[in-house]
Amino acid sequence: MKLFDPASALSARTSAIEEAAIIAMAQKARELKADGVDVVSLTIGEPDFDTPAAIRRAATNAMNSGFTHYAPIPGYPELRAAIAKRLNDDNAIPVGPTGVVLSNGAKQSLTNACFATLDGGDEVIMMAPFWAAYEGIVKMAGGVPVIVSAGADTAFKPTIAQVAAAINDRTKLILLNSPSNPSGAVWTEAELRALADLVHSHPRCLVLADEIYEDIWFDVRPTSIASLPGMFERTITVNGFSKAYAMTGWRVGYSAACEPLAKAMSKVQGTFTAGGNAFAQQGALAAITGPRDDVEAMRKTYHHRRDLIVSLLKAIPGIRTVSPPATFYVFPDISGLLGKSAGNTRIENDVEFCNWLLENHHLATVPGSAFAAPGCIRLSFAAGDDDIRKGIARLAEAAQALV
Ligand SMILES: Cc1ncc(COP(=O)(O)O)c(C=O)c1O
Repeated sequence: MKLFDPASALSARTSAIEEAAIIAMAQKARELKADGVDVVSLTIGEPDFDTPAAIRRAATNAMNSGFTHYAPIPGYPELRAAIAKRLNDDNAIPVGPTGVVLSNGAKQSLTNACFATLDGGDEVIMMAPFWAAYEGIVKMAGGVPVIVSAGADTAFKPTIAQVAAAINDRTKLILLNSPSNPSGAVWTEAELRALADLVHSHPRCLVLADEIYEDIWFDVRPTSIASLPGMFERTITVNGFSKAYAMTGWRVGYSAACEPLAKAMSKVQGTFTAGGNAFAQQGALAAITGPRDDVEAMRKTYHHRRDLIVSLLKAIPGIRTVSPPATFYVFPDISGLLGKSAGNTRIENDVEFCNWLLENHHLATVPGSAFAAPGCIRLSFAAGDDDIRKGIARLAEAAQALV
């Protein structure tokens, strides 16, 4: 009998997806730690806080009072209504409760949106640097990524002229992540208006706006593109509870869109999974209707850490840092250190740099290549002050060792 190779059974769709470099770096850091090495990890993409107690209590009570059955596919009506109210009041997005579809995390909402709108070969404009998962989701849904890149010179936002050059009759979605993972970039209202004008001149094109970091801002509260004139019908807004409320493990996200799009996303979700977790949604209801003191306190802490990490990074020669106006990420450009050597080791690119930094200076970071932006690295400041100070001291030491 011929030996069967199970790998040959994989679909082309699955084989095309690469393992996320973020996961690989975090794993490598864990392995070194397990060997007793004192590793500082600034890789993590989630709050280092626990979910606020009132939210945990609400979910526990819900579980004890019978919320253990299937939830409605698009989510509980009270939660859909509360989210719609918040989006109307705070974001000026004119969505009704039935335009809101709860999911198992913003990631699933992004997937629902792509499967609901893309046909094979439809193009999706993605603005690099972008969150690593986007490419896999778009490709699995049959879309073709069209990458528009921006660097530190434009604070990691492409110009409208660049987007205009990429858009055509095959463009179905523009994936907009403001505030952005990994750069923390935020599109100003004027920039969003220019993007909206471009969308209006392309009748097939929609915006998929991932606003998961909207509550973690430091300078100006971000604007939602769906609030601009004529844009609600052209936008699917995605958000969730993971980041602002420190609820990553709960898996509660949502999309907000006009009825036909919302119905289609609910249909996709009903096909692949079902309604989101019943008692987690009750916790989410407490989160969105309750006092916002905890969210505000976390935001203030991130703000303090942003100022700390940026001031430390700016003092390192060879590294160029744009201060992120939002999120808990900073995305320094380390290209000034590439092509240099430490002893016999020559560092040619960001991936080699991150591996060398972890192995030799015990600081775990994520290479910019994971976000389609080689030459940069991502540092997360969802970490305490001590780790930030210790981690950046190691980076400074590493930079100095390269000649
Ligand atoms: C830009 C972006 N969108 C979406 C998500 C996923 O959010 P959720 O945990 O709600 O699936 C993340 C998580 O890292 C993210 O960085």
